[in-house]
Amino acid sequence: MTSTAAITLADVTFAYGAGRAVLDLPALEIARGERVFLHGPSGSGKTTLLGLIAGVLAPRTGQVTVLGEPLHTMTGAARDRFRAAHLGYVFQMFNLIPYLSVRENITLPCRLSAARRARAEDPTAAAARLAEALEIAPLLARPVTELSVGQQQRVAVARALIGAPELVVCDEPTSALDTDRRDRFLELLFAQVTAAGSTLLFVSHDLGLSARFDRTLALGALNRAAAHGDPDAAPTVVARGS
Ligand SMILES: Nc1ncnc2c1ncn2[C@@H]1O[C@H](COP(=O)(O)OP(=O)(O)OP(=O)(O)O)[C@@H](O)[C@H]1O
Ligand SMILES: [Mg+2]
Repeated sequence: MTSTAAITLADVTFAYGAGRAVLDLPALEIARGERVFLHGPSGSGKTTLLGLIAGVLAPRTGQVTVLGEPLHTMTGAARDRFRAAHLGYVFQMFNLIPYLSVRENITLPCRLSAARRARAEDPTAAAARLAEALEIAPLLARPVTELSVGQQQRVAVARALIGAPELVVCDEPTSALDTDRRDRFLELLFAQVTAAGSTLLFVSHDLGLSARFDRTLALGALNRAAAHGDPDAAPTVVARGS
């Protein structure tokens, strides 16, 4: 990989369990500071790809290098530490911690990573600023289980952005937001990634947003396991050692 790459995938295949290949990606490179819009049909593997880049999932074969670190050589625990320190991830299903308040959910990355805490300086104040910008400040002390879906999504966004991570990965982060809140979130997101020099990988079905990004990728065109309408056409990946 080149030293300017934030994300490099080489010869990556992935399957859930012993199933057929969901992803077969010969090559993908995203430069540091680049803002990339990724789209593809439902079920085409967008969330799976983000999971590999975030180290939530491990590839069956191939190399996944993020911010210079070879994730494919790391243990699951090491990938978890790396993610907490360097990545902001807005999960498609939010993945908020139900027994924590809004404030505790937002500051969680700062509790998991000293690097993230140091960059946030004062996590409670940083959470308050993000909550203000995302219009959830009055909810900071509330349990997340009492929030509407759109409010939960904004908590997930604030948690991803706290402590200015070098890589921000967003999986359908505007799906539950009205147009005004969507636009304010995008302004905040772009302002923050610009200020921090972060790389942004943004998954959405809303193709109208793609013009705001440096580059648009269609997963179907990159992924050799794309079924092209015939689920039986996807090749089976055989686990190493099986
Ligand atoms: N945990 C899982 N176990 C088994 N198969 C899974 C799992 N998660 C996803 N899949 C399968 O992997 C394929 C890709 O799913 P993925 O969630 O990555 O798609 P996606 O492009 O994000 O779709 P969407 O736009 O609906 O969010 C689908 O065929 C799906 O059924
Ligand atoms: Mg998805």
